[in-house]
Amino acid sequence: MIKIYAPASIGNINVGFDVLGVAIAPKNGSLLGDIVTIKPDNHFHVNNIGKFSFQLPKNIKNNIVWKCWNNYCKIIGKKILVSITLEKNMPIGSGLGSSACSVVSTLVAINKFCNKPLNSQQLLHIMGKIEGEISGDPHYDNVAPCYYGGLQLIINENNLISQPIPFFKKWIWIVAWPGIKISTSIARSILPSQYDKKICIKHSRLLSGFVHASHTNQESLAINLMKDIIAEPYRMKLIPNFLQIKKKILKLGAINFGISGSGPTIFVICNKQKNAIIISEWLSKNYLKNKYGFVHICNLDTIGTREIGE
Ligand code: HSE
Repeated sequence: MIKIYAPASIGNINVGFDVLGVAIAPKNGSLLGDIVTIKPDNHFHVNNIGKFSFQLPKNIKNNIVWKCWNNYCKIIGKKILVSITLEKNMPIGSGLGSSACSVVSTLVAINKFCNKPLNSQQLLHIMGKIEGEISGDPHYDNVAPCYYGGLQLIINENNLISQPIPFFKKWIWIVAWPGIKISTSIARSILPSQYDKKICIKHSRLLSGFVHASHTNQESLAINLMKDIIAEPYRMKLIPNFLQIKKKILKLGAINFGISGSGPTIFVICNKQKNAIIISEWLSKNYLKNKYGFVHICNLDTIGTREIGE
């Protein structure tokens, strides 16, 4: 039996829409991601368990595990007879790369089960394709950090899907999911199909400047360049009181605040543990809408998807 864990991720870290993403790991050592277990069987079978398995589609062909298995079997040209259990720990439509967690853990598990006929780039390519089928457009800013860990810059050129970027080790990342769902494809469809030239130029400056600041270890420059001019102006209306919450969190000592992926999770960056605790307590009291919501104080997950013990 093979058991694979794939971590949650934040796509778009204010700067780098669709091209920057980070994998996250709660500081308290708990796992925040999906787990897939695979074992041989005499027919293909999927079993859904976990806190959020009730959100999964009833029709097996709409299940991400089936889509991964089907794509993989077509590529290697044979039907793989396995039983796969998806432990769906990540809420769907949360903005924390929930579908990426399922896609990446499933494909890594199947590939390992088959003695790794596909290399990382081939696997990532299928992951991006399936992510695209689910959300409307192929994008790698969740699957790449989920797979490799750390902060990933999507290149998708010269057979190179992503590259790691150095990140600021003392940054503390807080994620708060209110307990409600926003569909990624809807959150993508409300964005303009074209942007003004000034916005394009400004975004190029912010993104290239952020990558430069990360490589040259200039923390305050990196923070000042983490501004979302592509998605936040349009998506903030999906999050009630977004601007008031942002103002409050920055006042409580955060150095950055934004929408994680397509929302409604928000992320906060702090560089002092005491501020991170105050902010996470404030978010737990004021941002969560029901018993499912959560707040986690995280570091970046530097390992990415991995095999775990039983
Ligand atoms: N970059 C993607 C978006 C991430 O913001 O639509 C989706 O999880």
